[in-house]
Amino acid sequence: MRIDIEKACELLCHHEVVSLPTETVYGLAAFFQDEEAIEKIFSLKKRPKDNPLIIHVSSFDEIQSLTSLDLLPLTDLAKAFMPGPLTLVLPAAINKIPAIVRSNLPTAAFRIPSHRLTCEVIRKVGPLVMPSANLSGKPSAVKASHVEADFGPLFPVLDGGLCSHGVESTILSYAGSFEILRLGALTAETLSSVIGYEPSFHKTSGKAKPQCPGQQYRHYAPKAKLHLTCSFPKSSVIVGFEGRRYPENCRLFSLGSLSEPKEIAQKLYTVLRALDDEAIDEAYVDEDFPRKGLFRTIHERLERASN
Ligand code: TXA
Ligand code: MG
Repeated sequence: MRIDIEKACELLCHHEVVSLPTETVYGLAAFFQDEEAIEKIFSLKKRPKDNPLIIHVSSFDEIQSLTSLDLLPLTDLAKAFMPGPLTLVLPAAINKIPAIVRSNLPTAAFRIPSHRLTCEVIRKVGPLVMPSANLSGKPSAVKASHVEADFGPLFPVLDGGLCSHGVESTILSYAGSFEILRLGALTAETLSSVIGYEPSFHKTSGKAKPQCPGQQYRHYAPKAKLHLTCSFPKSSVIVGFEGRRYPENCRLFSLGSLSEPKEIAQKLYTVLRALDDEAIDEAYVDEDFPRKGLFRTIHERLERASN
């Protein structure tokens, strides 16, 4: 059900959960200290309680007020990329942030979104927690109809159109030095232009306790079994690219042209969701593309979707 800004604010003030658009993906929002509504987010999404939430604020000063660290060294980074698709994991001011938001961790994640509608809601209601607006494990939602597909046609959604990035924010932790905890819309190369080096990213694997709890779960996955490959059987379903030649009788779900990585990222979850809409049970994903910049994020999402 589509709602306007006033209705979104009213519902949030009455301990309800609403979906809001961001420039990355749609989120499921609750006021960050409203534990009743936050409980609803976890149960709606069927999200494990050990997977903490990102707090969305409207200014860097607000982030400073919710952390125990002096953020002066991060001023240039914030000036360059906030508002935008960057999430910072920082030591939390734990008396101000409910444990359920942080999954009891001593840190918390913060982001300043840039979508006009959601910025207005945050200014009116205050900081909001917002996980992606999808059932846990499914592809994220990049349009209002995706949110309704997961949570039903009566679920309140503030329709802000198609998300411009289409993949989630990049999560960067800071404790003296930087580390990428989740690849995202902001590339390591772009971050390095301000940080002075490319922050490392380690894939979560094996039994080591993940630094970014969400990384341990299956994610972004349609029902179809996905095979990442550079060779394709005849008559198969392929998730691939414009201008490539695939075997005869294949059905192509196109991610667009390889010369436009931003458009590929923006289309990614719509294509994965389309496989479900068409009840496809097996598809071959063309992984013959570079692993740099945004393509690195796109490949990581496809890998996780295929696990
Ligand atoms: O683009 C985005 O970031 C979207 C939009 C809606 O803002 N939000 C989003 O939220 O992707 P979610 O909940 O789907 O993913 C948040 C990720 C999870 O993997 C979680 O484990 C991680 O952030 N996270 C949150 N707090 C953390 C913390 N204190 N330390 C490490 N990872 C944290
Ligand atoms: Mg998510």
